[in-house]
Amino acid sequence: MSNPDGLSVTGLTKTYANGVRALRNVDLRVPSGMYGLLGPNGAGKSTLMRTLATLQTPDAGAFSLDGLDGRRDPDGLRRRLGYLPQQIGTYPGVTGRGLLERFAWLKGRTHARERRREVGQLLEQVNLADVAHRQVNTYSGGMLRRFGIALALLGRPRLLIVDEPTAGLDPAERNRFHRVLADVAADAVVLLSTHIVEDVENLCERLSILADGEIVAEGTPEALRVPLQGRLWTRLVPRHESVPTEVLHVAAAPAGTRVFVEATEHPGEGFEPHSPRLEDVYHHALSRADQRRAAA
Ligand SMILES: Nc1ncnc2c1ncn2[C@@H]1O[C@H](COP(=O)(O)OP(=O)(O)OP(=O)(O)O)[C@@H](O)[C@H]1O
Ligand SMILES: [Mg+2]
Repeated sequence: MSNPDGLSVTGLTKTYANGVRALRNVDLRVPSGMYGLLGPNGAGKSTLMRTLATLQTPDAGAFSLDGLDGRRDPDGLRRRLGYLPQQIGTYPGVTGRGLLERFAWLKGRTHARERRREVGQLLEQVNLADVAHRQVNTYSGGMLRRFGIALALLGRPRLLIVDEPTAGLDPAERNRFHRVLADVAADAVVLLSTHIVEDVENLCERLSILADGEIVAEGTPEALRVPLQGRLWTRLVPRHESVPTEVLHVAAAPAGTRVFVEATEHPGEGFEPHSPRLEDVYHHALSRADQRRAAA
């Protein structure tokens, strides 16, 4: 393998039995650190993540972790993997510590003292030590997410896959969650999917934008902004005026709607230059992909 360090995905393709082409020839190189997978609903993020977590098989393509082939040796990959699915279940009648202990035992931690120590450290790491005695089904959504991360971190995975972990979290919880992930990313590959652009902008060194099963942009947040420099304009459309359709994206504002457009020259009265953010990159990549599909 030319790039044995980190996660490597080549030509991954998946069509479901109902004919939905959820992944089309996806290539990815993910080094250690935080990597963002950004895409709208239905883009294929969960499909990609379930496939990499060896929970479903692709129709074609390959993936490897530090050179270990995930299709030939799924058990080997699973031993190095932590996966936090988009939907997590709760277990009535079990405390946080109790549930972690059980999963640790299932993962082969048969030595009681070591198991307790690992579970204790994980509870500290995700900031749940003081509620570890409470039943998991009494946790708030944010606590449950952090608990899910503790479960995924059992056995110190080399690859941590987290599928839309911050949806529904308040800003303080989101920050707490981000700090835990950043901590893990110091010496692991962390693949984070989201449709919240800010999550990726502040947290990830690199990212991919996935649309309709295809990677439509890849790079660092800074590099992805460069091609849009000097090409974006914004204007506030007052409430009584109709919003033009040829816009990159819109944002609701107190006095009307703020529109963002791409143009090589000043697009007309009322527009001012807008310096590109990742959100603009995201909408731009999606609209380009739409245009390509319409033309094909
Ligand atoms: N088990 C399945 N059987 C058939 N089609 C599926 C299945 N799972 C997902 N799909 C379809 O595959 C496409 C990709 O879905 P996926 O769940 O991977 O997207 P996503 O990016 O995770 O979306 P979201 O942001 O809503 O979680 C969608 O069109 C979806 O309807
Ligand atoms: Mg999903």
